[in-house]
Amino acid sequence: MTNQDSFLLSFEGIEGSGKSTQIQLLTQKLEASNYTVEYFREPGGTSFGEKLRSTILESTTPINPLAEANLFAASRAQLLSEKVLPLLSKKNHIVILDRYLDSSIAYQGMARGLGIETILDLHEHPPLNTRPICTFYLQIDIETSMQRQQNRGNEKDYFEKENINFYQNLIDGYELASTRFPERIQIINGKSDQNKIHANILSALKEKTGIEL
Ligand code: TYD
Repeated sequence: MTNQDSFLLSFEGIEGSGKSTQIQLLTQKLEASNYTVEYFREPGGTSFGEKLRSTILESTTPINPLAEANLFAASRAQLLSEKVLPLLSKKNHIVILDRYLDSSIAYQGMARGLGIETILDLHEHPPLNTRPICTFYLQIDIETSMQRQQNRGNEKDYFEKENINFYQNLIDGYELASTRFPERIQIINGKSDQNKIHANILSALKEKTGIEL
C-alpha cells in the first residue's frame, strides 16, 4: 500500500535530454523540504537489475525486440518489489526513477516496432502496473541530442549507436505516450536553460501533487 504522503516520480527523454541534472536539482529541493528522496536508474537499481543492465547495454549482438522488452520488464519488476513499493509504503518518501514505463513504450514499443499495446499488456499486472503520479518528459530534438552526446564524448552503448531514424521513432514514441497519458506525463521543454527547466518541473509537481517547494 502506498502511503498518502509518498510519491513516485519518473523522468523520461532521449539521450542528452538533461534528466540527470534535473533529477539532482529536484532532489536537493525536496531534501531541503525534509522529504526522503530515493533515486534509481533503469534498467538497474537492484543487484539483479544491474546484471540485466550490463547484459543488455553491453550486448555486442542484436537482441530480439520481445526478449529486450522482457529483460527491461524483469529489471523493473524486481526494482518495484524489492525497493520502490516498500519505500512508498513509508511516510514522506519520494522515489525518483530515471526512466520507467515510457522508455519501454518509446524504445521497444515504437523504435523496435513491438507496438505500444504489447508494452502496456506486459505492464498490466502487479508490480508492473504501478504508475508514477507524475512523469517529466524532457523534450529535445534529434540535433540537440546528437550535439550533447558528441560534447560528452563517452563510449557509445547499445542504444547510442543507433541512427537518426531510430531517434525519430523514439521521439514519436514519447509523443504517443504523452497523448495517451496526458494526466500523468508532463512535457517539459528540455532545450531551455537549466534553471527555467527546474522551475517548470517545480510548478508541474505542485499542480500534480500539491507539493510546493
Ligand atoms: P542509460 O545509460 O541509463 O541511458 P540514459 O543516460 O540516456 O538514461 O541507458 C539506458 C538505456 O536503456 C537507454 O538507451 C534507454 C534504454 N531503455 C530501453 O530501451 N527501455 C527501457 O525500458 C529502459 C528503462 C531503458
